[in-house]
Amino acid sequence: MKPYSKNWKLIMSDTNTISIDNPILDVDNIRADFPLLSKEIGGKPLIYLDNGATTHKPKQVIERVRKFDSDEYGTVRRGSYRLCEHSTQLYEEARQKVADFLGAPTRQEIVFTSGTTQSINLVAHSFGRKFVNSGDEVIISNIEHHANTVPWQVLCDEKGATLKVIPVADNGELVMEEYDKLLTNKTRIVAVNHVSNALGTINPVNEITRKAHAVGAKVLIDGAQSTPHMKVDVQGINCDFYTFSGHKMYAPSGIGGMFGKMEVMETMSPYVTGGDMIMQVTLEKTTYAKPPARFEAGTPPISQVIGLGAAIDYLNAIGMDKIFEYEKSLLDYGTRLLNDIDGLRIIGNAEEKAAILSIYLEAVHPHDIITMLDQDGIALRGGHHCAQPTMIRFGVPATARASMAFYNKFSEIDALAESLRKIIKFFS
Ligand code: ALA
Repeated sequence: MKPYSKNWKLIMSDTNTISIDNPILDVDNIRADFPLLSKEIGGKPLIYLDNGATTHKPKQVIERVRKFDSDEYGTVRRGSYRLCEHSTQLYEEARQKVADFLGAPTRQEIVFTSGTTQSINLVAHSFGRKFVNSGDEVIISNIEHHANTVPWQVLCDEKGATLKVIPVADNGELVMEEYDKLLTNKTRIVAVNHVSNALGTINPVNEITRKAHAVGAKVLIDGAQSTPHMKVDVQGINCDFYTFSGHKMYAPSGIGGMFGKMEVMETMSPYVTGGDMIMQVTLEKTTYAKPPARFEAGTPPISQVIGLGAAIDYLNAIGMDKIFEYEKSLLDYGTRLLNDIDGLRIIGNAEEKAAILSIYLEAVHPHDIITMLDQDGIALRGGHHCAQPTMIRFGVPATARASMAFYNKFSEIDALAESLRKIIKFFS
């Protein structure tokens, strides 16, 4: 992996051909790190554009987990023999890597969970059940993943609280004037994503957080779709919680976590109880460990945590700013290319957008689109993307979503456009 450091420009001619001058990333070199990207699907080279669902792993991550499992594996925090101490040290080093990656002040403010879904459920349970009461209000937006909708619905139902929703404009941006009106001194928590998984919109999370804090509310930012694509700074955002999933950022599945401000997490009760989250247990009473241990009951996914640390090393070696810039050029290129196709609509055209193209064809159901794309070796997610309220808002049952990563090539976007044209022709 030898990323270039020079700036570059994407030059598109009227015929949409592209010449890349001084590329910021050596994508061919990067792709050589990802074994699965050189595979074929039904005799066609795989074109993988479902990175919003899950990403592939570079050999550096695969090999690190293999080596850990074969030569170093031991339990963590439960013994003073050398194997255990070594694993514990690596486990805590990975926590430090996550803290640095997210810009968290201390590693103790990073909790490992199975991913974003569990992190949000943890906060809805441990913060929500304690601090949200009858008559209180919770705010989400109209472009949330179900993982950032359902836990709050359940909480509000249980507590007799009100769930309020920030509306979204036709271009996919949140209507911030309406957000201002929703905030009251009854707002206990605002939970929104940093990047919409269905549309790609990058939300103004600094402003959202500042305004929520002004009325005394806490803020959770769902970072599942931002952490793989841009530099995150939780101190800059000043949010109280920031959640992420490892498998969307080139790490193994089953691991993720969240940043939580220590002063907020210290006020929260445990979510899952059991071993290793306690201070002391007697038959009469249990006292709890401080965070993060309070929220990490049971033996954690140790190898996956080591893999997450290796994925962060990999991303840092390329550089998140370069990744963002390169993916933005893929997005700009794809947007221009797809907008030229008659009968194709891109849902979500926010000014600030991550590399997601949510495609809707009037004449073809998204499930048929992705089945036909698959015949050409092109992998896209088709469906509601676990964001049914977003689909309802935009009046579509589903979309076909191309979600890009830094290992995607411009020629793959060309191939997608070509296949879509073929599909439209077939159905017309
Ligand atoms: N949240 C994942 C997606 O958007 C599963 O595809």
